[in-house]
Amino acid sequence: MSFKSIVEGKGLPDRVVRSPVESDRFGLSIGRLELGSTGGTEPQQVRGLVAASEVDIVVLRYEASSYDWFARLLDPSYVAIHADTLVYYGAPIDPDRIPPPDVHFLARAAGAEDRDTVDAAVRGIFTQYGNHYAANPLLDRLAALEGYCEWAAGFIATPGRETLLLESSEDHELAGLATLLVEEPGEVVLAGVEESFRGRGVYQELLRRAEAGLADAGCRQIHVSTQIHNVAVIRAWVNLGYRFELALQTVHLIRRELWAGEVLNGL
Ligand SMILES: CC(C)(COP(=O)(O)OP(=O)(O)OC[C@H]1O[C@@H](n2cnc3c(N)ncnc32)[C@H](O)[C@@H]1OP(=O)(O)O)[C@@H](O)C(=O)NCCC(=O)NCCS
Repeated sequence: MSFKSIVEGKGLPDRVVRSPVESDRFGLSIGRLELGSTGGTEPQQVRGLVAASEVDIVVLRYEASSYDWFARLLDPSYVAIHADTLVYYGAPIDPDRIPPPDVHFLARAAGAEDRDTVDAAVRGIFTQYGNHYAANPLLDRLAALEGYCEWAAGFIATPGRETLLLESSEDHELAGLATLLVEEPGEVVLAGVEESFRGRGVYQELLRRAEAGLADAGCRQIHVSTQIHNVAVIRAWVNLGYRFELALQTVHLIRRELWAGEVLNGL
């Protein structure tokens, strides 16, 4: 969920929102309830929507400050698994405080001709990525990676979005990439560094370039998010002076008969 959609608070929809793309990808019917802030909603309402939905897996997201929700979400009709905790960090963008770019790297926005490059980079960078799909043994990891590739492709040459490529200035080898929401507030959605460039501060350079690009587009805030176990990126954000803002829980609510059948089959 984007930071903006969380703070704007969409509230509980009147039914589980079906996700045809995820359903096709994983071969199970998948729906979503993305609440962000739970203000005014009770877990019993969520239980009612999920029980009535006949969906195999509902991906539920809510603010972690509703710490009493998880126990109250439990229901005889489905199994609930904790799939991840997302943490959001952010900072004001001050163009005057962004250090000069590292001359060893060039940054540019990906165009339609870069689709294969972006696809290959996402496949390499996120191959072992521990997201909420990876926490669910019913979901295929390679299919989840395909999803990340499609997700990243949707940021290329799309209004209000951008895929930033960071290349070595010496030979134009791709060092890292970041997909951005170019709006107010600006947001880094997916970002990563190629294996061979890791451990040298390249990620921090990538974020500074993202900040500079967002500043040029008139954005005054930057937000980023990741799973709470992602120590390296959170350290980088702290180094860059970003502040912790909020956390979301992702819970998968899995139809009990489906779960029981898979457990019998040894998962
Ligand atoms: C996480 C990732 C972006 C880090 O890239 P990087 O260029 O190696 O990072 P940096 O060199 O800028 O290091 C950032 C900080 O993380 C620390 N760090 C790097 N790798 C680490 C690791 N494996 N474990 C713990 N800390 C680590 C560094 O020490 C540095 O902190 P420090 O300066 O306080 O010492 C890279 O490993 C990656 O692309 N991972 C997969 C994709 C991903 O997780 N993306 C983020 C969420 S979308």
